[in-house]
Amino acid sequence: MQQPLSFIYRYEPPAREHAPTLLLLHGTGGNEDDLLPLGRMIAPGAALLSPRGKVLENGMPRFFRRLAEGVFDEDDVRRRADELADFISAARERHGLPQPIAVGYSNGANIAAAMLLLRPEALAGAVLLRPMMPLGDAPVTRLAATPVLVLSGSMDPIASDAGTARLVSALNTGGASVVHRELPAGHELSQADIAAARTWLAAAARPVAQRLAEAAS
Ligand code: MLT
Repeated sequence: MQQPLSFIYRYEPPAREHAPTLLLLHGTGGNEDDLLPLGRMIAPGAALLSPRGKVLENGMPRFFRRLAEGVFDEDDVRRRADELADFISAARERHGLPQPIAVGYSNGANIAAAMLLLRPEALAGAVLLRPMMPLGDAPVTRLAATPVLVLSGSMDPIASDAGTARLVSALNTGGASVVHRELPAGHELSQADIAAARTWLAAAARPVAQRLAEAAS
């Protein structure tokens, strides 16, 4: 019998050959089902891997502990980023998947950002929806032109402009290829997020698919 992996998760296999894999990371209080419809909308036919955050805050799942709104337990951020990166590699082996592109919202975007900075080999790219900088000191990271889309909201009361700017700067310094767009929105997602993510993913996923096709031939 197969051992269960270290996270509760949903998996949808790809609907076509060489389709990319999306790693879907929900926000606080969400679960593994939340972002499946978003994933299907922004990358039709992609494989979807969607874990549930293991930390509970008043019963609400998250991907790492926080001490207050916007104040993170950084030791936990580091530990949980490692744990999630290890889950990704186990899930890739189990389902035969390429390096995934993370699509994270809010707390899910923040753990994706932490993985980019701490475990850059885990991800082929990332769509960060309303992210903040999850670490006080940006580690020196080699991101080898990893494509990252950051979508912030100009009226977001949770993710501040300064926090997003620090994250974008850390990713750029690490060598990521970052596109940052500020949308006329709050912390909630809007139709504009879906359109922007879909367009960006179609372009970002192309080189990933090409690499896979080349490796298979
Ligand atoms: C976080 O805790 O990661 C951020 O404050 C976003 C949130 O989940 O509210």
